[in-house]
Amino acid sequence: MSKLRMDKFLSSQLNLSRADAKRLLREGRVTLNGKPVRKGEQQLDPEADAVCLDGTRIGYAAHLYLMLHKPSGVVSSTDSPGDVTVVDLVPEPMRRPGLFPAGRLDKDTTGFVLLTDDGAFAHEILAPGKHVPKTYHVTLTRRVTRDEQREIEAGLDLPDARLKPAALRFLHDAPDDGLPVYEIVLTQGIYHQIKRMFLHFGNPVVRLHRVSIGALTLDPALAPGDCRLLSDAELQKLRSKN
Ligand code: URA
Repeated sequence: MSKLRMDKFLSSQLNLSRADAKRLLREGRVTLNGKPVRKGEQQLDPEADAVCLDGTRIGYAAHLYLMLHKPSGVVSSTDSPGDVTVVDLVPEPMRRPGLFPAGRLDKDTTGFVLLTDDGAFAHEILAPGKHVPKTYHVTLTRRVTRDEQREIEAGLDLPDARLKPAALRFLHDAPDDGLPVYEIVLTQGIYHQIKRMFLHFGNPVVRLHRVSIGALTLDPALAPGDCRLLSDAELQKLRSKN
């Protein structure tokens, strides 16, 4: 395993700023293989070496899994000159090389984006054959008719794609502009799928927000632009795919 600086190890594993990690080191609370370490630039092998804080070993998570509340105007990629990307929103201590969004939302779509540096896991969640359901709240220009609902739930034919059946349910009229809000569940990831689906009926999408991926729902405590680590239980939930 490649080496890592001690301050980077502490900040990434304990979710601290680099300054707070350095403070712990200055206070003499950190040991490396039993010996006190005070220098942030100390190199270590995160898999082989034992790092302790106040005598308790800090486990090393080989991969990072983050839940991000994507705001509108942010691009779901790692690098897009002139744009703010979802990776730009990750605070420095949580950044890692290779971090990328596991699945894309349009620039104007808000909600749950999963960021990870674990390619195999992302594939498990995203591969078209895996059918992990993604749930969205979609605000439309007008209400959906019964016939339209039936077509959407049976699977629509677009000029270049056959869409799988999608569950659709009216939720409420939006308090601010009175437009109808629906919940829609997709098991397919075609580009602009929801927008194209409703445009097909001449009912443009006004707002689109992803609320869940599989059984995992966006934490309502996360404000737009914020992200946090997934807990082990949440990761399990995501792996269970139901
Ligand atoms: N469908 C869309 O049209 N846009 C998204 O961002 C996600 C699903």
